[in-house]
This record gives sequence, C-alpha cells and structure tokens, in this order.
Amino acid sequence: MLLLYVTTVSCVVFGGSSAGFYEKSECYGRTLRFPFSFTPPLFNGQLYFTPLKGGSRKLVMDKDEAKDPRLQISIGSVVLTDLTERDEGTFSVSIGDAMPYDVIKMEILDCAYHEYWTYGNPYSSVAPTLTEYIEFLPFYSEDLPRVLWNRTDPQANKGSRLQMKGSIWEIKSINQADGGYYNFRKKDKTVLSRLRIVVAANNRRYYTNVNERLVIDSPSLDATWTVTFTPAGEVEKNTLMEAGNLVTDDRRIQIMPNGIEINPVNIIDSGTFEFRDQQGHLAQIVEVIVKDEPPPSVLHPYVYIAIIGGIIFAVVVCCCCVKKCCCKNSSSKRHESAPETAAAPAVYYHDLIQPAGPVPDNSYQPMNSLVSGEPTTTSLEPSVEPLGGQGGYPAPTLGSDCLSSDPVPKFELKGQSIPSALPLVSDSTFCDVYTSDKLNFL
Ligand SMILES: *[C@@H]1O[C@H](CO)[C@@H](O)[C@H](O)[C@H]1NC(C)=O
Repeated sequence: MLLLYVTTVSCVVFGGSSAGFYEKSECYGRTLRFPFSFTPPLFNGQLYFTPLKGGSRKLVMDKDEAKDPRLQISIGSVVLTDLTERDEGTFSVSIGDAMPYDVIKMEILDCAYHEYWTYGNPYSSVAPTLTEYIEFLPFYSEDLPRVLWNRTDPQANKGSRLQMKGSIWEIKSINQADGGYYNFRKKDKTVLSRLRIVVAANNRRYYTNVNERLVIDSPSLDATWTVTFTPAGEVEKNTLMEAGNLVTDDRRIQIMPNGIEINPVNIIDSGTFEFRDQQGHLAQIVEVIVKDEPPPSVLHPYVYIAIIGGIIFAVVVCCCCVKKCCCKNSSSKRHESAPETAAAPAVYYHDLIQPAGPVPDNSYQPMNSLVSGEPTTTSLEPSVEPLGGQGGYPAPTLGSDCLSSDPVPKFELKGQSIPSALPLVSDSTFCDVYTSDKLNFL
C-alpha cells in the first residue's frame, strides 16, 4: 500500500507572543493533536472551527469542555480523532471578550491507494490483518460512510456487494456505484488503510468499411443492455436497444447473442455506441469508424499477381537490355562516331517507370547523344525524345516514391514485406492497392 502519511507543521511565532499560527496537514482517518498552548489548564478560552468548504463558525471547545464528540481533552492534551474532509478549515480561539483569531489552518490529505478498474471486472485485495470493519463512501456523497463489512456482525455481511474470504475481500463484478473510498478500520476506529477506486467503462474501437458486416460485441453475455448511438460529430443520443430489446426501425440492425449486428454497414454508422446496464451504469463505449471504400479482399489476390508479374517482366527486360548493351558495345567498336554506350540503361528505365522528379543535368547529355549518334540502336529508343524534351528523368525509385507518399503504413499487415524488386514494378494497380487503408483490416 502506498499510503502517504504526511504531517507538516509550520509555526510562525509572532514577536514576543506565545500564540502562533500553525499550518497542519494530516491524513484522512488520523488525529489532530493541538499545540500545548491550547490545552488545559493553560488554555482558558473558546476554540472555534470554520470549515473551508463553507459553513458557519462553530464552537469546538469551551475552556476544558468538549463540544465535539471526537475531541478528547485531558490535562496537557487536546486531540481531535477520526479526521475527515469536513475537518478541513481553520481553528480560531478567543480569550476573554477578545475577537477570535486564527490559530490553525488544517488540511486533510486523501492518503488513499488509488485504483482504476473497468466495469464488469472482479476486484479483490488483501484487507489489513486487524480490520474490524470496512466502510465505503461513494464519490461526491454528502452522507457518512456506510459499513459494508463488519467482523462481529456476519449476518449483516451477507447481502453486501463486498465479500470477505479469509483476509481477501472481493467485489465480484464492479460497476460505477462501487467507485469511491474504502476505509479499513480497527476496533478503535483507527483507519488502517484507505482505498480509492475509480470505475470506468470498457473502451472498444472498430474500423470497418461501407457494405461490410459489423458485429459490436456486448460487454458480457449475461445482461440486458440499453444501447445508444451518437453519430460522429453529433451530441444527441439515439436509443437502439432498451433493456435488451431492439427499439430501432433500421432493418440493418439485429440483436446477436454476443452483441449487435449491423449489416451492411453504412457511412452514417460512424459514431459512438454506449452500453448501459439496467441500473444505468456505463459498461462500454464503442467507437465505430466506417470508411467509404470498396472491400480490399477483392483486390487482394491481385497484389501478388502484380508483384510476380512485375518481377518476371523486369527480369525479361533486364536480360534483353544486357543483350542489347553487349551488341551495342561490339558495334560501337566498329563505328568510330558512336558516342556513349553507357546511356542505354537510362533509356531502358523509361519504359518501365513513369517519370518523377527533376532531371539531373548529367543524365541529359548521354540521352541526347544517344539519340543523335545512334538512333536505331535499341527498340526502346523512340521514348527517349519526349523525355529529354520534358526535362524529366525516369527516376528508378518511382515505385517506392509512390508508396512513401502515403502516410499510412500498410506493409506490416499479415507480416508482408515488400520485395526489393519493387522499384521495377510500374503497374499502377500495385500502388493503388498498397496505399489503400483497407489492408489494415485483413
Ligand atoms: C459491528 O457489529 C457489531 C455487532 O452487531 C456492532 O455492535 C458494531 O457497532 C458494528 N460496527 C460498526 C462499525 O457498524
């Protein structure tokens, strides 16, 4: 348990006077011991308290007489026991007919172990050994804590949401009504430990596409849920299901044993579905995101065909190219006027890949010289002309360019890796497929 027991005392003694101003902070359930100067027989006035959260000043102690049942007075000692948030405020004293003046500013610390739990889950924990009873105070409650479990009253424990087995206490299925503070107290009422539980709804998110079938899972099988739908960007909740019964005219929506089916999904189904139990506790929040794209499964097999086809095509073209180069090399030895032979690969790229990006200056020359010097060297030659004119250079990395321009990562899906031959694939279908978000759902 991570309990913070912090006590800070700061004392400012005003010149010459024995009275001071104290700032104190103490954990919930602990005690406040008053300075010696406010204890009998030294103290002979009235002690008042003014709550921080509003309320009138009330008399706590009159000379040596307690006006609060929690105040224990003895010679040389005044103690306020069982501190709660209500004790946060200022103590003041008046002596004789003088106006009361502030002497102690009291701060109450939570000092609870904080837990966050989701709806429907069991919560269990070990209770401190000396626990005599367990109190519960819901959040924002103005009431006093109620006893959930009492060691000496086994009969009263039977109907409680909290069950104790040995030293383990448990709440079987937690909901928002169980959110609050749990105090574990000893026989003398001392707080042994304190727990603060916040209960939140389960969160789910579904991504789907128009015309697909979607089943939104219920939080559990054993409850009759009330489900509301708030379209994306709107605030008004529309009830789809009331205590397990469908209350919508929408024929696409059906109740399934494990949830709600929407078939086919429409773009208007994007939004938030809230599942509440019969007590109105929010059990689950589901966000549905519908994308307006055709299902990816139709295109999917073609991805592989495109890749394989591309590779075969690339290999074939490459072989041809190498052959041509060799031919050209041998022929250029015969023709003295033939300029550059290294330019041939640049031409070859063009047929495979569409131009992208600016022309590097050095690539311009070889192509032109090739055109003028040896116009009939290769069958790919005619495509060189527009290229040089446009000033466009066929960048070999076009394929990956196309892919990297899309910010959504697609390739981790199904553990696919991109073939290294990718830049050789000019097929535009290939790009379309991989830039599609739909692969996210495969
Ligand atoms: C626990 O039960 C006993 C016996 O009924 C009772 O006397 C006692 O006041 C109970 N304690 C609390 C804190 O309710």
